[in-house]
Amino acid sequence: MKVLLTGGAGDLGQVLAPELVLLGHTPVVLDVARPGKELGEFVEGSILDRGLLEKTIASVDHIVHIAAWHGIHEFKQEKDAFDFWDLNVTGSINVLECAARNAKSKLVFISSTSVDDWPGIYAHSKILCEDLMRTYSARHRMDIISLRPRAFIPHWNRATYNTIGEWACWYWKGSVHINDVAQAVVKSIDALVSNTVQGHLVLTLDGACEFQSEDLEHWDRNGEGTTFKKLFGEDKYELAVQHGLNPAVKPKVIGYSDAQRAIGYSPTYGFGQMLDELAAKPHS
Ligand SMILES: NC(=O)c1ccc[n+]([C@@H]2O[C@H](COP(=O)([O-])OP(=O)(O)OC[C@H]3O[C@@H](n4cnc5c(N)ncnc54)[C@H](O)[C@@H]3O)[C@@H](O)[C@H]2O)c1
Repeated sequence: MKVLLTGGAGDLGQVLAPELVLLGHTPVVLDVARPGKELGEFVEGSILDRGLLEKTIASVDHIVHIAAWHGIHEFKQEKDAFDFWDLNVTGSINVLECAARNAKSKLVFISSTSVDDWPGIYAHSKILCEDLMRTYSARHRMDIISLRPRAFIPHWNRATYNTIGEWACWYWKGSVHINDVAQAVVKSIDALVSNTVQGHLVLTLDGACEFQSEDLEHWDRNGEGTTFKKLFGEDKYELAVQHGLNPAVKPKVIGYSDAQRAIGYSPTYGFGQMLDELAAKPHS
């Protein structure tokens, strides 16, 4: 199966492409930037070029729409409301309309839990995109899964994190690993192809969490750091603190039960793996 990845040269596309190849699919990356690793096919260009987009969509079996400016670009004030409108909103209607015109009825859209940050610019753009997904699904009988992952910028993205420690501090606040997001995309494709999911479905993606709800409800009731140490021990506590992570602040867990029920999503990467990675390469 040929799977179009719009914006596939970015972080998510680059983790997803090898997974698709392993499953016998051909990723078709459509991006303004050349991917670091070229797997499958690469089409250099923009989702704002409707002619190119339509030609590319006509040649694939399935679409994963990833390309967007994301929250970090608003946070750093690198992109403004016009930029978000042009790429996120116009880009999404281009993808949907080209898909509808070419009878491509299955699509995975990467939304974000940031929709809850409305009226932020990025949040608003994703809300508008989800509305487009819902409308196109109803109007053209398309089956669309909108995935809402939490933050998943990986620790090797040096434009965002200077060190793995910086990333760990962010991850601790509540996040999902990029590999688990890729897993959810693969499971979404399976669910759409097998017609297990029909219409438009919105699914939240959280990371794995080793803490029991009892721990989260009564965080550190036996003193500062006790909940963390109970699970991960004294050494990992020292390691975390050395890297600026504050174990007294409990991570925000939002869960993923809808995604588990609908597509069998089951994240494998939790705080334990994050601490193991930090211990293995503390200076990277
Ligand atoms: N990274 C996160 O923490 C996070 C969290 C939730 C949701 N998301 C969403 O996930 C998606 C991708 O995330 P990512 O981390 O891989 O982003 P990324 O910035 O690494 O990749 C985006 C890609 O889009 C490409 N692109 C930009 N303009 C384009 C255009 N006109 N046509 C085609 N491609 C274009 C870029 O070159 C880049 O390769 C986005 O939709 C984002 O909103 C990200």
